[in-house]
Amino acid sequence: MNRVRYKFYTLILISMTTLTSCKQETKSTEDSIDAKVKTLLSKMTLEEKIGQMNQYNGFWDVTGPTPSTGDAAKKYEDLRKGYVGSMLNVRGVENVRAVQKIAVEESRLGIPLIIGFDLIHGYKTLSPIPLAESASWDLDAIKHAAEVAALEASAAGINWTFAPMVDISRDARWGRVMEGAGEDPYLGSLIAQARVHGFQGDDLSKPNTLAACAKHFAGYGFVEGGKEYNTVDVGTSTLYNVVFPPFKAAVDADVKTFMNAFNLLNGIPSTGNTFLQRNILKGTWDFKGFVVSDWASIEEMRKHGFAKDMKQAAEIAANAGCDMDMESDAYVIELAALVKEGKVSEAVIDEAVSRILKVKYELGLFDDPYKYCDEEREKSVVGSQDIQNAVLDMAKKSIVLLKNENQLLPLKKQGQNIAVIGKLAQDKTSPLGSWRLAADNGTAVSFLEGMKAYPDNTITFAKGADVTAEEPSFTKEIKINTTDKSGFDDAIKTAKQADVVVMVLGEHAFESGEARSRTKLGLPGVQQELLEAVFAVNKNMVLVLNNGRPLTIPWAAEHVPAIVEAWQLGTQSGNAIAQVLYGDYNPSGKLPVTFPRTVGQVPMFYNHNQTGRPTPKNPGDVFWSHYIDVENTPLYPFGFGLSYTTFEYSNLEVSKSGDNSFKVSFDLKNTGAIAGKETAQVYIRDLVASVVRPVKELKGFKQVTLEPGETKNITITLTDKELGFFDNDGNYLVEPGEFKIFVGGSSDTELEVSITL
Ligand code: BGC
Repeated sequence: MNRVRYKFYTLILISMTTLTSCKQETKSTEDSIDAKVKTLLSKMTLEEKIGQMNQYNGFWDVTGPTPSTGDAAKKYEDLRKGYVGSMLNVRGVENVRAVQKIAVEESRLGIPLIIGFDLIHGYKTLSPIPLAESASWDLDAIKHAAEVAALEASAAGINWTFAPMVDISRDARWGRVMEGAGEDPYLGSLIAQARVHGFQGDDLSKPNTLAACAKHFAGYGFVEGGKEYNTVDVGTSTLYNVVFPPFKAAVDADVKTFMNAFNLLNGIPSTGNTFLQRNILKGTWDFKGFVVSDWASIEEMRKHGFAKDMKQAAEIAANAGCDMDMESDAYVIELAALVKEGKVSEAVIDEAVSRILKVKYELGLFDDPYKYCDEEREKSVVGSQDIQNAVLDMAKKSIVLLKNENQLLPLKKQGQNIAVIGKLAQDKTSPLGSWRLAADNGTAVSFLEGMKAYPDNTITFAKGADVTAEEPSFTKEIKINTTDKSGFDDAIKTAKQADVVVMVLGEHAFESGEARSRTKLGLPGVQQELLEAVFAVNKNMVLVLNNGRPLTIPWAAEHVPAIVEAWQLGTQSGNAIAQVLYGDYNPSGKLPVTFPRTVGQVPMFYNHNQTGRPTPKNPGDVFWSHYIDVENTPLYPFGFGLSYTTFEYSNLEVSKSGDNSFKVSFDLKNTGAIAGKETAQVYIRDLVASVVRPVKELKGFKQVTLEPGETKNITITLTDKELGFFDNDGNYLVEPGEFKIFVGGSSDTELEVSITL
């Protein structure tokens, strides 16, 4: 084989070029922290060490009387003995102070707790769900959203977030797609880094930053059939090129913790997976932080059939590199005996504990365990106007305009009779999204409230139909309204009299998130029927979608003239949507996931491989890769999103700018009548490779704001980092040969050229 191969260590080189002075400073702090960890470790008993590896859930009114029996009593007792290293779901300064006080003032060594919480898209004031934020493609805004979440949560006692979730997923059936950055490893990696930087800031010891956690390592987004907690089988090419990159990017961003996952990965539970945790994460990637299990995932290895009992599960997890046990009680109960029997070495324990203590030192918890416990700060920061403004800005940037025929949008600001239809338009809870444990019900600005800011139109509301049959909750099965159509007549009457109808339809927030897999991806319940019934009487219709995953809406895409993807946008949802509908913000979002035509196409993603039979030889031939009942294209492709203006791409040129470095240059013109922001995207295809490469891979993008008629030349550089891939042994290769370069406003690109490397 005359193919020349190179191995590149780009990332290693990048880290080697970090400024020397900064490096020395970090080094000396690191050295002194390592020394402190060592000293502390030498004073700890085996049980105290294991205690650091134990995390309990918050469960009781911590500021009330201490119970003398039961689970809570045991947890109090363990806190006093120094057998607890961390707690999750204790929040609010008063509560955090209460548990911290026991750990610090009543345990023998007074080691502070690290307090974890799922800040998935904010604390009390919510930003859009992460999938929606990702639709902004605006890395600064996403970073800022994480900064703001850290600011608010750290003021409420929290110093560790179980975010970002960086699982790539190609399966809209899986409810947790709402928590991630979508289907693309390149975009997903940049967003992972933005979020880690946002949460952790440039100084972890500041009181307004937190330790981040890249989760769920690994493969969770690939659960079979999109069914929650299911098995994952992915080949090595997908593992190295799709699943791993956002995790590696998080390590490069110095993420302090990792969470493993519930799922089996190729037959081995992630939680007990030595290859993942020891070989890749702590070995190849040299990750210095600690790994926490997912909730009870150590114990669940028994149910998987990987450990015969809890004791063996603890042994496997610890040896495989899982440093902290979330809510299995496996470590605190079993590890001491396992060490005494020689099944887990004390060196394994010491390593895990050192990693945990190190993060606590870095957070500054040893200098001041109550640094996140400032009542005054909590009062002034939580829910502040600055935070409200930040989440509003993020919400506007997250909206994606999917269709706008005859320029129905933006809406006229005066003299219009607007019918607003759909229960979700009135909802002040669902727009908060799933994963919002600290936000109170009813605290979102509803769509109807947002529309009130434009008083010169007449708004008439009719709910049409309920989405759910009863008020849903985070922990209970959701009941969808599949029968009650009693509101249809009123909705039809209201629509008949209107100049424009705005339908707000979609999923309730608790139809996505953990344990919310779906096999149908259309509008839930009777909403499709409602949509068609209303459309029959007034076709001047804007459909505003609320959802936590891609939906299949082929009927709407064909008939309804304007469609706005508004996800679940958080606390300021209604204001953000209204400002976009009225054109005070020109929509700029682009889909971070493919929208299929039908659920049968799932998993559907733009960066798939080419089959041996991609097209029919002659029209009408059957032996090619397709379905006989739906076309191969998606309803809306990855990267797609319109604006109230239009853009034109031209003059694509690619020139060599160094060894294996190419400058991609093109012109982008605003051809419409108003200013607008476009996300120009660059994709590549490596035409022939030793491991087959996808038909397209996103490798660069730029966001540009253009005045009407304005043209800007855009350049994006492609280097080894973008042109290579991982082979099936995990080696990074850049292979010479022909590449195609594509440019456009979505993955359905407009321009292309070929280059030879
Ligand atoms: C989820 C994690 C989450 C943890 C703690 C688990 O059920 O899978 O993502 O961080 O709970 O709430």
